[in-house]
Amino acid sequence: MIKANQKESEPYSLEGKKALITGASRGIGEQIALTLADHGAEVVVNYNTSHDKASETATTVELEGENSWIYPADISDHEEVKQMKEHLKENFGEIDILVNNAGINRDKFFAKMKKEDWDKVISVNLDGVFNCTKTFLDDIRESEQGRIINISSVVGQKGNIGQVNYASSKAGIIGFTKALAQELVRDDVTVNAVAPGFIATEMVKNIPEKVQKNIKSQIPMNRFGEPEEVAEVVAFLASAKSSYMTGTVIEVNGGYYL
Ligand SMILES: NC(=O)c1ccc[n+]([C@@H]2O[C@H](COP(=O)([O-])OP(=O)(O)OC[C@H]3O[C@@H](n4cnc5c(N)ncnc54)[C@H](OP(=O)(O)O)[C@@H]3O)[C@@H](O)[C@H]2O)c1
Repeated sequence: MIKANQKESEPYSLEGKKALITGASRGIGEQIALTLADHGAEVVVNYNTSHDKASETATTVELEGENSWIYPADISDHEEVKQMKEHLKENFGEIDILVNNAGINRDKFFAKMKKEDWDKVISVNLDGVFNCTKTFLDDIRESEQGRIINISSVVGQKGNIGQVNYASSKAGIIGFTKALAQELVRDDVTVNAVAPGFIATEMVKNIPEKVQKNIKSQIPMNRFGEPEEVAEVVAFLASAKSSYMTGTVIEVNGGYYL
């Protein structure tokens, strides 16, 4: 049933919910912040270095009529994440929804991959998920509708040339999601993952054009996805409508991995 204050086009109401989205200064994270706000949530836009872009995201959220905060923290640094939590506790309150979105890649053939390429990707993509989830766990457990949504990747499911480090981190997120989902059932917290295929953000636009063309030819829908197509799935998982789903991995990949 649609509530009086809920627009018919926004069935996944997040009214009264507070969400933290990591890596929300651009790309998929930015769109997740805008979409969750569009569904009624107040949002925290976390970022690492792109202050101006993060401010733009927050301004757009505010123009849409929702409250937003921006906070810089390198999610691979547990201490910085703890400081973010202290700051938010005082200025924003406790969060209900954590979207572990921030991620990086350092692509190289394994033979040429340096230890620092491995360490960097694992520390942001996997340690970052640990740091944020661990730090905000108490908030989420206390929420009446606690949600943890992790952004994995099709590459964590099927692997990809030149991405041993990235694929390992994204496969790790799937294991993390499934194990934690089982632990948090007793707290009424759901833990799910979204595994996007190739989505038109800077991460994909930086791939050489020839390689992009080759990838597209392997996608049954013959195009890259849009950040909105991932963000709406996240909004659904964040909402009460996904109440019987936990430990799942939702694929948003245009049929790339069947
Ligand atoms: N694009 C795709 O095709 C695709 C497909 C599957 C999965 N994914 C995943 O989706 C997520 C978003 O990807 P995207 O394409 O939107 O990437 P993007 O455009 O490169 O944006 C990455 C975001 O992560 C933030 N970030 C990077 N390192 C960080 C750190 N140490 N601490 C905090 N924030 C950090 C960046 O903040 P700054 O701007 O401040 O650096 C930025 O906001 C990633 O986890 C990615 O692996 C993407």
